[in-house]
Formats: sequence, structure tokens, C-alpha cells
Amino acid sequence: MKYNITDTIPGEEVKFRNPPKEFLEAVGGVEGMRKFMYDFYDRIYESNIAHFFPQDEEEFAKIKEKNTQFFIQICGGPAVYEDVENLNEYMIEFHKDFTIDERARIEWLGTMQEALEDLNIDPKLKEAFWEYVEKFSKLTVNRF
Ligand code: HEM
Repeated sequence: MKYNITDTIPGEEVKFRNPPKEFLEAVGGVEGMRKFMYDFYDRIYESNIAHFFPQDEEEFAKIKEKNTQFFIQICGGPAVYEDVENLNEYMIEFHKDFTIDERARIEWLGTMQEALEDLNIDPKLKEAFWEYVEKFSKLTVNRF
């Protein structure tokens, strides 16, 4: 599959759809999502956005787990991350504490692409997941 990345345009309305529950099921449920997200974050640590994240091992481990929980919930799994009305809004607010530009977004997405490429699941499900992260990540960009 092609991992398209479109530009973030300041002020532009971003439409996205949460990834399907089938993605969560295909990766192997909660445990599979954990494996996928830990792998993604191990790669983040090798990437050029590593400095955005805590260098302390224990703190980093917490982020890995938080991410796992978020992605379980956003894929329609149980509300193990936060019991909020709009999880995506919550996540946009969360990222405002960090200065994220388009370069950082592209590196984040490139790292996600690598982790996705290693998943042995239906490419259609990867595509749906990619669509979500490619679009939603635009809303984490706050520095132009
Ligand atoms: C689809 C896009 C993204 C999603 C769904 C997402 C999701 C998350 C989640 C769930 C967390 C953990 C929140 C918590 O601790 O409760 C997090 C933390 C974080 N994300 Fe993202 N993220 C996205 C894009 C990005 C991008 C593009 C960057 C750019 C560098 C980024 C930087 C960070 C940072 C710096 C943290 C926090 C680290 C800390 O707590 O010290 N994220 N993200």
C-alpha cells in the first residue's frame, strides 16, 4: 500500500474517521495493540523526534502504555485510556503542551509507517489506520 502524506494547512478543517474495530481485532486485541505500540515507541526512540519524549526509562514506559490504551480506545475497544466524551479533542488539547511542527509530524508518521509495515494483516485495515493517523496528526501541529 501507499503511505500518502498530505500537507497540514493552517486553519484548514481536518476530516477524519477513527480506525475500525477490525484493526484492533486483526492485530490481536489488547495484547497485539500493546506489541504494536511498544514497537512504534521503540522506533520513536531511534528517530529524530526522540528528544520530544522523556529520556527516563520509567517515564518512557508510562508513555508506551498510555499510547497503547489510547489506541485500544480509539479503535472502538474498551475505554481503558480516558473516559471522556471526545477522545480526539482531548488528544488535541494534550499535544498543545508540545511544540509540534510539520517536520516532527512527518517523522512521527514515518515511524508509524515502519511499525505498520511490520504488521501482517489485511492491507485494507492498515490503510484505514493510516488514514486516521495521517489526518488526525495534522491537528497536533501547532507551529508553522
Ligand atoms: C495521530 C497522531 C497522534 C496521536 C494519536 C498521538 C497520541 C498520543 C498519546 C496517546 C500520547 C500519550 C498521552 C498520555 O500520556 O496520556 C501522546 C503523547 C505525546 N505525543 Fe503524540 N500523538 C500523535 C502525534 C504526535 C506527533 C506528530 C508528535 C510530534 C512530535 C507527538 C508528540 C507527542 C509527545 C511529545 C507526547 C508526550 C510525551 C510526554 O508526555 O512527555 N504526537 N501522543
